[in-house]
Amino acid sequence: MRLSLLSTLVASSVMMAGAVSAAPKIKDINWAAVPATKTVLFYPGQTSIEWILTGTDHGGLRAFKKGDRCFECHSEETADMGAKMVSGAKAEKTPIPGKRASVPLTVKAAYDADNLYMRFEFPIGAHADVPFAKGGKMDPDNEIKLAMMIDAGKVDMAARSGCWTSCHSDNRDMPTAPAATALGGAKGIDTKAGYVTKYVPESRTQFDTAKRDNWDKVKPQAELDAMLKNGTFLDLTRFKSSGASEQGYILAERVLKPGADVAYSGKKEGDKWVVTMARALKSTQPGSVALEAGKSYTVGFAVHDDFAAGRFHHVSVDLKLGLDAEGEIKAVKQ
Ligand code: HEC
Repeated sequence: MRLSLLSTLVASSVMMAGAVSAAPKIKDINWAAVPATKTVLFYPGQTSIEWILTGTDHGGLRAFKKGDRCFECHSEETADMGAKMVSGAKAEKTPIPGKRASVPLTVKAAYDADNLYMRFEFPIGAHADVPFAKGGKMDPDNEIKLAMMIDAGKVDMAARSGCWTSCHSDNRDMPTAPAATALGGAKGIDTKAGYVTKYVPESRTQFDTAKRDNWDKVKPQAELDAMLKNGTFLDLTRFKSSGASEQGYILAERVLKPGADVAYSGKKEGDKWVVTMARALKSTQPGSVALEAGKSYTVGFAVHDDFAAGRFHHVSVDLKLGLDAEGEIKAVKQ
């Protein structure tokens, strides 16, 4: 009783001091009591969803079309897969010499009446200069970034492919990315940065996996608005090691804003990065998934290590997060 009164007082004095924030606090979870899930993120190269859905590119096409998850075929071999792309042997036009093929990630999750809490741990890697980036670093301000995507249950293929359904051949630095000079005509997406960001297939009037030129076939805004209301999006939150927490979603494009009801924190501990996160269970922001005890959600993780940006990240296959429910990652109530 006394303790909770004290923390309420501390919290309110912090608020009065002007540090007003609705972001949940990363409270003292007893992480030692929470079971760990170990997974291996891998370097995906230029394997877009269009690549996945083309038999001459991807050996798993038929089973994936029948309903198998990426996880079912690949969860035990991602380190070997990453080695093929990172070396340029498969689906990678601009390999980075010395980049690691995979990153082992330990994930823990817990929740209480208000928030989901997560803890991520992965080994710090050696630096490899990027030949095509100034100073050898693509994002010199951020040694690492860690992102989490959650499927609200309505995006086609997301339940069995996680992030892949939002990764396209015409995205930034991908094989059929439109030239910057061709971007001007696109309606419904912001291309000022000079490239097309991630999107879900439902946001387009066409999804041609052969021509792979769907980026500018954006549905009318009213249809996109309806999709944002009914849950046809992927929830996205991200930690930047420069200190920022971001949140947003992917629908017609990637939308990221400063975290309002999500707060990440991260630091190096010995030879590891440890990142923790707290996010509201309730959905208070557009494109944020409401999480409920007793339910499972498809999630995907990405780590940009070694000052990487864009597609030069390491990613997980689709995983299930269950809040005291079935899933590779089990969030336990604390
Ligand atoms: C039925 C099992 C199966 C499913 C489901 C499946 N794949 Fe594959 N995948 C394969 C096979 C087989 C290969 C070819 C392996 C080879 O050539 O050695 C492959 C190759 C790959 C590769 C290239 C790396 C490599 O080892 O050749 C990537 C990347 C990949 N799959 C990603 C995915 C993703 C992402 C999904 C889900 C969207 C998925 N796969 C679903 C069986 C599957």
